[in-house]
Amino acid sequence: MLNEYKSSFFRQNNLLHLNNAGLAPISKPARDKVLYWGNRFYEEGFYTDHDYMLDVLNSRISLSQLIGCDSREIAFFQSTAGAIGQLAFQFPLLPGDEIITWDQEYASNLYPWQEAAKRSGAQLITISSDKNLTTPVEKIYEKISDKTKVIAISWVQFLTGARTDIQALSKITQEKNIFLFLDIMQGLGLHPFNMKEWGVDAVAGGSHKWLTSPVGVGFLALDMKHINKIKPHNVGANTFGTCDDPTDLFCEPKKDALKFEAGSKQVLEIAALGASVNLILKTKVSVIEKEVLRLSTKLKNGLLNLGYEVHHNQSSIVNFIPRVDSAARLASLPCNFALRGPGIRLSPHAFNTDEDIEKVLTVLK
Ligand SMILES: Cc1ncc(COP(=O)(O)O)c(C=O)c1O
Repeated sequence: MLNEYKSSFFRQNNLLHLNNAGLAPISKPARDKVLYWGNRFYEEGFYTDHDYMLDVLNSRISLSQLIGCDSREIAFFQSTAGAIGQLAFQFPLLPGDEIITWDQEYASNLYPWQEAAKRSGAQLITISSDKNLTTPVEKIYEKISDKTKVIAISWVQFLTGARTDIQALSKITQEKNIFLFLDIMQGLGLHPFNMKEWGVDAVAGGSHKWLTSPVGVGFLALDMKHINKIKPHNVGANTFGTCDDPTDLFCEPKKDALKFEAGSKQVLEIAALGASVNLILKTKVSVIEKEVLRLSTKLKNGLLNLGYEVHHNQSSIVNFIPRVDSAARLASLPCNFALRGPGIRLSPHAFNTDEDIEKVLTVLK
C-alpha cells in the first residue's frame, strides 16, 4: 500500500518537496484527471455535461468519506477562506456573543471570524498559546463562558503542527450547546479524523496540501442539523436549482449544503481532488500518518543531533531555529521550506523518502 502511494508521485528530478504544509506536488491520479478532463472539454465540449457533473459528485462522495460526514453536507468553494467566510458571515451571531480562537491561527480562519465579530457586535476571544506554541484543550476550557457561541480553531496549527484534543473539547461544546468549527487544512488526509464521531459541527479545508491536488478548491462540511440556520452567502442559479431552470422569484434554496454553491464550479480541480482523495482512502490515512510521523521524527532527531532547537508536535511539521546560512543551504539542494513562526518549517509527506531526509540533514550539518 505504502509503496503504491509513494510511486504515485513524480520522482524523476532532483526537487525535494518538504513544504507540503504549504503547497504539495499533486499525485499522479490527480494529474491524470486534469489531463483527462482537459482533453474531453477540448474534444467534446458541451457533450461532457452529464459525465463531468457525475465526476464532481464522485469527488464529493470521496471527500465525505475522508471527513466522516454525508456528501450532501459538503459544499465546494475556491479557497478555505471562502468556505469559512460562508459560515462565519452567515452565522447567527448577536452583540455580546463570544467566538473563541487561538492566537496563532492561520489568517484564512482568523480574519473571517474577526470580521464576522465586527459586523455583528460579537467579540473575538484569542487564547494565548502555551509553552512552545502548544494548544492544550484545558486553556480553551478556561475561556468558555455563558456568552461563548462558537469555538473556531484549527485542529492542527500551521506553525508547528500543534494539535488540540478535539474529542475532549467536543464533550464540552455538545454539553453547553456551543458550535464547534475546525479548520482541518493541516490535518485531513494526514491524521485519522471523523467529523460525526468526534462531535464536530462544521469543518473547512482545501485541496493543495495533504490532499496533494491542484490549488483552487476549498470545502465546507456543515452538519445537516445546522443547515437551516446558515443562509447562502452568495446566491445564483445553483443555490436554487440548475442552470436550465427558468428564473422564479419565489424559488426556495436547496435543502442541503449545495445551496452554498452559487454557480459553476472548478470541474478540473474538483475532479482531481477526488482522484487524490481516492488514493488516500485506498492507502489508508493510518498508513500515511505512520509514515509521516516516522519521517518527521527522523528529521527532528537528526536536527537535534546537529544541535538545532526544534518544535515538533506529533504531526508532520518540524520547525527549527535556523543558523545564518540554513535557508541558503536548503535552497542549494534544492529543497523548499517555509519561514513560519519560530523558524524554518519543513513538512514531510508520506511520498517522501529516508533519502530526502538524509539529504536535508547532510546539507544542514
Ligand atoms: C490552517 C490553514 N488553513 C487554511 C489554509 C489555506 O487557506 P486558503 O485556502 O484560504 O488559502 C492554510 C494554508 O497555509 C492553513 O495553514
